[in-house]
Amino acid sequence: MTLILGIETSCDETAAAVVRRHEDGRGEILSNIVRSQLSEHADFGGVVPELAARAHVVHLDRIIKAALDGAGTKLDDLSAIAATAGPGLIGGVLVGLTTAKAIAAARAKPLIAVNHLEAHALTVRLTHGVGFPYLMLLVSGGHSQFVLVEGVGRYTVWGTTIDDALGEAFDKAAKLLGLGYPGGPEVEKWAQKGDSRRFDLPRPLLKEKRLDFSFSGLKTALRLAAESVAPVSDKDIADLCASFQGAVTDIVSARSAAALSRFATENPNTQLRFVVAGGVAANRAIGAALQAVTDAAGAELIVPPPVLCTDNGAMVAWAGAERYALGAFDGFDVAARPRWPLEETPLMRTA
Ligand code: KG4
Ligand code: ZN
Repeated sequence: MTLILGIETSCDETAAAVVRRHEDGRGEILSNIVRSQLSEHADFGGVVPELAARAHVVHLDRIIKAALDGAGTKLDDLSAIAATAGPGLIGGVLVGLTTAKAIAAARAKPLIAVNHLEAHALTVRLTHGVGFPYLMLLVSGGHSQFVLVEGVGRYTVWGTTIDDALGEAFDKAAKLLGLGYPGGPEVEKWAQKGDSRRFDLPRPLLKEKRLDFSFSGLKTALRLAAESVAPVSDKDIADLCASFQGAVTDIVSARSAAALSRFATENPNTQLRFVVAGGVAANRAIGAALQAVTDAAGAELIVPPPVLCTDNGAMVAWAGAERYALGAFDGFDVAARPRWPLEETPLMRTA
């Protein structure tokens, strides 16, 4: 039985969790403590890297202690310490990774440097015991990617965004309309009251076969639409949000249908599993549209619960547990990486 402490500090959540992995591969979350820094960044309409790093320094010790206490675990009981080593805001990543190194060194435990995207990618194996292979759509504040997941450390990116990430597009749309941060939940809330047909916003790349996204044109169109009715009323904001969310949903649906079709063609005798991960997976309109696309393709849609879609320590601990089971540890010389493509996560990095 494996017991892993996972530490996550790559963006604006200070998080730690203890996860158990049973011999049969089943996972169990013993504790999962997340402290969001929303209040620190609220006035700025986005995450301020320096403030984020400082807040991680202030809170991480307490969060780790809460995770250990919540799990009824002592440091000596742990099999290994896992921490996000990138990609992310480098100041924050350094705080978490250095803390993990210090604990591992002090208690003579193995260290596992986790790629944050791999943690998102493997979460459904913790929550739903999903087997390989599966197709994943990762849509977060920093990433929008279709990824073929064939095993731990075996990822192929089929398409990505050529400009903004989807969550980022939601955040920028919200900022433009004077709504709060993070923008996704705000836009979703306003969209519920709005008319999605009032503003005819573009669906960039919709007709192309490639699996890439582009959201910056949509952002510009939204700004022009908002300017055309300025000063905006509450009704205008609701309609703008609904129109934006409608355009985004169409784009994500069309791309997902194309990706699922490729997955089916390349894996003729495989159960088609479609996993949606990252903060935007919490959006109900997008979720409903993806359910329809998945049903039409005869595939199975799997979405982790919202608390495990947004950044958390359990996903990092679990990625650590999966790597631990395969003997993939890291040396103390492992570096924090602001950029770290998912495809650069081979199983054996250092002995
Ligand atoms: O995965 P995540 O917590 O952090 C990153 O790794 O980026 O994702 C955060 C992103 C933010 O951009 C936020 O606006 C978006 O996910 N988000 C949503 C919703 N909830 C969070 N976007 C659309 N609809 C939502 N309900
Ligand atoms: Zn994330």
